[in-house]
Amino acid sequence: MTCRVVYAVASSSVCVRDPAVWFPEGRTTAVHDTTTIAGRAPSASHLTLSQIMDQHHTNLMGTVHGGRILNLIDSVAGVVAARHSDGPAVTAAIDETAFLRAVRVGDVVHVDARITWAGRSSMEVAVKVTADRWDRAVPPTDVATAHLVMVAIDDDGQPRTVPPLLPETDADRRRYREAEIRRKHRLALRRALLDGAEDD
Ligand SMILES: CC(C)(COP(=O)(O)OP(=O)(O)OC[C@H]1O[C@@H](n2cnc3c(N)ncnc32)[C@H](O)[C@@H]1OP(=O)(O)O)[C@@H](O)C(=O)NCCC(=O)NCCS
Repeated sequence: MTCRVVYAVASSSVCVRDPAVWFPEGRTTAVHDTTTIAGRAPSASHLTLSQIMDQHHTNLMGTVHGGRILNLIDSVAGVVAARHSDGPAVTAAIDETAFLRAVRVGDVVHVDARITWAGRSSMEVAVKVTADRWDRAVPPTDVATAHLVMVAIDDDGQPRTVPPLLPETDADRRRYREAEIRRKHRLALRRALLDGAEDD
């Protein structure tokens, strides 16, 4: 990797990949001013949490409650956002989430979360949930996927600037482009809902 950009960070300098190499739509810098914050790769905050489901997590059918899975998704996404941004982050939005297969008591659930996009203060985190069946040595079952918008906040609860995201791999770059499309849709929806709320 050729290092062409040096960001000053506190008293040290950090060498990162030239953003022009990968930013889409001809952009040559990250979404916000990158001169003071060093960019980070998605791999720096990537996290997988594995947990055995117990009877406290079940619904009336005896399978694991969807709310429990959502709780895990939100929690792990929060950790990834905090790791990327060096501080607390709140959930601003969770995209529609489909539950593909039921999880049973005893299954080992894996919640894999990675940051796919970062703006000024917001980050998109993609989460994939799979489960190992407790009684069968078969490949993991797909349970759910989700995309969350996490916003880094300061001590007053106000949005704060986050480091730019520096995708490393082709898959990272694809995820980044797809995240931009989702962001456009979310912001359009948010605007429409806020406009509608003003009419009430
Ligand atoms: C999230 C929150 C801090 C945003 O504050 P705000 O005053 O609306 O700030 P902004 O409008 O500047 O938005 C901040 C960032 O979030 C993004 N954002 C906010 N809502 C969004 C949405 N629905 N979809 C996509 N992005 C969104 C903005 O685009 C902006 O991104 P950027 O800084 O990267 O450009 C605020 O709405 C909040 O505190 N919400 C409650 C969060 C919470 O309690 N969550 C737990 C579950 S209830």
